[in-house]
Formats: sequence, C-alpha cells, structure tokens
Amino acid sequence: MSESDGAPSTSNRTPADSHRLASGVEHPAASHGHASLSDPATTVFSEGQLAEVRRLQSLYPDPQGALLPVLHMAQETFGWISLDAEEYVAGLFGLSPAHVHEVVTFYTLYFRARPGRHVVSICHNLSCHLAGAPGIIEHAKRRLGIDAGETTPDGRVTLLAVECLCACEAAPMAQVDDRYELNLTPEKVDRLLEGLR
Ligand code: FES
Repeated sequence: MSESDGAPSTSNRTPADSHRLASGVEHPAASHGHASLSDPATTVFSEGQLAEVRRLQSLYPDPQGALLPVLHMAQETFGWISLDAEEYVAGLFGLSPAHVHEVVTFYTLYFRARPGRHVVSICHNLSCHLAGAPGIIEHAKRRLGIDAGETTPDGRVTLLAVECLCACEAAPMAQVDDRYELNLTPEKVDRLLEGLR
C-alpha cells in the first residue's frame, strides 16, 4: 500500500515501530474496537503541545511526515488513541479521520483501547525464545491470570508478547513500561509483577 493509499510511509518508522510491526501483536483490547470512548472535550492538546506539533510538521517536506510522532504525543497525553483522538489529530493535519484511523490500525504500537496502568511486553522472538521466553510468558500469564494481549480486571497490568526489542544478549527480556528487564527468570518476573501497583 502506498502512502497515498493511506498507509504510513515506511520512511517514518522508528526501529521500535519496525519491531512492533513485525510482531503482529494486537495491543490490548484492540480486537474489541473502541469499547470505551474518551471525552471529546478533553481530547485536545495544550498550547505548548500545539506548538510542538507545528515544529514537528515543519521538519518534513510534507507536514504529514510528522503524523506518527504526533500520534505518539496523543497516546502519551490521552493514554490511548480513541476515535476522538484520531479525529482531533486528523484535524491538525488536514487529513480525513479515516486516513488517520488506517495509520493507527496499521501500527501495533498504538493502543486502541485504554491499557493497564503498567504494560509488560515480553519478547518472544528467536533469542528470547531459545532462552526460555515461552516459559516466562506462561509464568506471567499464570501469575496475572490473563492471556497475552489482555489486561488484568483491576486495570493494573497489560501483558503483551512482542517481537525483538534489541536486547537479545540479555534474553529472555521484557519491557516494563519504559524500562528494560533483562535475563528474566520466573522469580524475577514475580518480583517485577509484585512491584507494579
Ligand atoms: S529476541 Fe528478544 S530481545 Fe531480541
């Protein structure tokens, strides 16, 4: 699909995007669609954020090149990318909401439902797989009582199985929110899950 077809340009992908794209991992409740809608009245950027949007747009020959980082900003601000957020971001770029929706659903790095307070992404790619990731994932699933791709009923943790996060030398590993947890063992998983409140 070409960019003009509505698919995002690969030139704008970050390494992290590529990993997640390759994973085919659905983000939590993605299969449930937009089960819970955000408040449109609060789906707006601050003046400072709008200035940042304009700065990002100015970095590209086509301002649309800033769409992915602005969607990241929206996710950080609103917690996930709701239909309202898609429409809001579309307006910032003069794009149709359908176009932005295609981008959001193309990449697996955007949450299309509100995730848990903590996101535990366990790598299950080759190096981690060979180092025991399947057992680590099963252990985490048992401890949390959920499957990969799900969120605990109390909203505390979302568990994901993801592709390579580029820390293969410390396999098996996981990303817990913004930090890497390396050389995982079941005991280490227990400790890190217990630390997530
Ligand atoms: S295979 Fe797991 S970090 Fe690379």
